[in-house]
Parts: sequence; structure tokens; C-alpha cells
Amino acid sequence: MGNESSTPVDEATPPTKLHGRSIEAVAQYMKEKDVKNIVVMTGAGISTSAGIPDFRSPDTGLYANLARLNLPYAEAVFDISYFRNNPYPFYTLAHELYPGKYRPTVTHSFISLLNKKGKLLHLFTQNIDCLEREAGVPGDKIVEAHGSFATQRCIECQTEYPDDRMREMISKKEVPKCIRKTCNGLVKPDIVFFGEALPEAFFRNRSLPAKADLAIVLGTSLTVQPFASLPSFVREDTPRVLINLERVGTLGSRPDDVLLLGDCDAGVRKFADALGWREELEALWETTDPDKSDRGKQQAPLKSRQEQLDDEIEKLTKDIDTSLKVTGETSERIKAELEKDTTTANKTSSPPADVLSIPQPTNSKDQPSLQHVFPHLKEGKEDKPEKPSL
Ligand code: APR
Repeated sequence: MGNESSTPVDEATPPTKLHGRSIEAVAQYMKEKDVKNIVVMTGAGISTSAGIPDFRSPDTGLYANLARLNLPYAEAVFDISYFRNNPYPFYTLAHELYPGKYRPTVTHSFISLLNKKGKLLHLFTQNIDCLEREAGVPGDKIVEAHGSFATQRCIECQTEYPDDRMREMISKKEVPKCIRKTCNGLVKPDIVFFGEALPEAFFRNRSLPAKADLAIVLGTSLTVQPFASLPSFVREDTPRVLINLERVGTLGSRPDDVLLLGDCDAGVRKFADALGWREELEALWETTDPDKSDRGKQQAPLKSRQEQLDDEIEKLTKDIDTSLKVTGETSERIKAELEKDTTTANKTSSPPADVLSIPQPTNSKDQPSLQHVFPHLKEGKEDKPEKPSL
């Protein structure tokens, strides 16, 4: 917990929970113990195969490539005091990073699959690209520890800025200003800059790693606190898996730590193979392909929860109306048939076999009632049933 050693565990030290220090042993542990409280911690490394550079990889990382923005130092692009003086480097970068242009990776889909199988306790991500949500991980299972591009506001008066105007300003590489003319402050996406506090949700959920029965760390250098401390909050005897190009943090210092060093997409595929989930994983990832789903087409703006509920009620009402209307028309037809046959029957000995002999209710005025055939119809009323109260 807290300041644990990062010295690798002695090879001779056996694991306490796992049958071995391998991803196959983790898969076996998951099956044997019916593991269902997995905490996942991710960083920029899981989005690199989507085309979004990470921050610190030499040569390819963002910080190695921001020199062209004439920054005093690379992280200044995400420094709130530098942003106040010069927001242009950030908005140049935002133009390239803004969500909507990238497809989730198979690693994002692996996290979504954990959730679909009821095994994801919570996902802590440092990423701002919203690809976890795109991959299907529900918002209430995600802590975006460093915020995201999902919303934006004025850094002076905190007034929210409209999403559509933000998209327009970023696509034009322009710097948005507060919608309140009297303020005219700089607008910034709700990304946590150096010098800003992490969202309250991070601190509210920080106790979850201690409740996990498995922790999986993916694609992060674990260099930025307080996020980097999360893996050390996992209980000593709870297995931790690191899937990353390099060993980071204190991962590998405990007997039940398993290191899968290499590309995270290849690592989650190896994990899925060991779990027998490979086909499901590939099928789930397929659904994120914009060319194969209408995801890629310009879709109507997402409806609010209330709007979706209203649509549902509207559809349900229409379905009930339709089925009751059919019932009403059917009852009309049967009634007409009965009346016709009743007239005919007065002239012949017995009604045709296919006509139900309807017992005459005592209180009727010689009109056959369909009440007992369609109990939901109100007797004596139009055969148009009342719309059921929902
Ligand atoms: N597969 C596996 N690991 C990868 C891959 C990949 N395809 N690509 C990169 N990595 C690894 C890198 O080796 C590195 O260890 O992912 C890690 C990425 O580390 P960083 O670039 O530091 O990104 P991250 O850990 O997310 O940075 C944390 O720093 O500047 C802040 O706010 C920013 O959230 C960010 C935070």
C-alpha cells in the first residue's frame, strides 16, 4: 500500500493466489474463483493503435513532437497558467486529438467485454479521448481521472460552452471565448491540466482498487500522481496484471503480479485466448468499425434520457393501439357474422358449426355481448377499447 518497493519479486518466490505467474494462470484464477470485481487502470498506450500518440514514448510520443509549438517545456501544453497566456498550442493539439475521428482499439473492446460479462467493477482512465465510452463501457463504470473532451466551460466564470460551437471552433483551430460577453474568458474542455484538481469522482472511487479481486493495468507509464498510486491500493494478495510495452510503477514487485510486456492489443488477445473469449472479443471489436455500422454515418444528435423514455412510451402506446385496433376490427367482424347467422338461423335448424354458440347474457337486450370473448372490452361501449393506462 502507498510507498511499496518497485524491486521485482524474486523468481523463486511462489505466487500466493495464482498457480503461476502467467496470463494462463490468471485466466484459471478468474474461472476458479468466479472473479467479478475487476478494476482496470489505463493510459494513452491503449489508444496508440487507434492513431492517437501517447505522451512519453520516445520519438512517437506527443511530448517529443510538441517542439514545433515553441513550448517552454512539453507539458506546458497542458499547464493551466501557460494556457491562460497562450491557449494556441493546446488548441492546435486539440484539433488533432478531438474525439470522433478515431475508432476504439481491441484493448478498449476487451474492457467493454469485461463489463458485458459482469466482471468490471470500475475503469480508471487517464485518457481524454472518450474511446472507452465509444467501445461500450457505460459512463457509470468509468472514472476519467484527467477529464475528457466531453464537456467544456469558461476558466474564469465556469459557464458551460455549447458542444456544437466547441466542435466548430476546434475544427477551425480557433480559441473559443466565454458566451457571457461581460466575461469573455477563455474556454477550455474539462480536461484536467497540470495545476488543476482531479474530478471529485476520482477521490470518491479511489477505495475501489482495495475491493478488487483482480487489477489490470494497461498502457500507462504510471508517472503522474495521484493516478499512479492506484495499483498500490490493490490488496497485497490480489493478483495484478500489467500489459504494457515496459515495466512501470511497482508492478512486478508482488508474488501475484503478472507482467505481459509488449503491445497491449496483442496482450489482450493473448488474455482472451486464455479465457476462451477470443471470438467474442473480435466480434465485439468489429462492431466499433464505422464502415461496418451506422456509427460512422452522421447520426442525429444523441437523445436525452427523457427523450429516449418518451420515444419508448410512444412506441409502446402505438403497439398497444395497433393490437387493440386489430382486436376491435376482429370483434366487429365476428359480431356482424353472428348477427348475420342469427338472422339466417331463424330460418334453418342449427347454426353453422364454425360459429361459436354464445350463451345469451340474461341482462342483454337481445344483443349478443362480446364481453366474455374480449374481457377487456367495456360492455355497451364502442368496440374501441380504452387505451390502457401505462
Ligand atoms: N502497447 C502497450 N503499451 C504501450 C503502447 C502499446 N501499443 N503504446 C505505448 N505504450 C506504453 C508506453 O510504453 C508507456 O509506458 O504506454 C505508456 C504510455 O505512457 P504515457 O505516454 O506517459 O501516457 P500516460 O501514462 O497515459 O500519461 C499519463 O500524463 O501528461 C499526462 O495527462 C497526461 O494522462 C496523461 C498522463
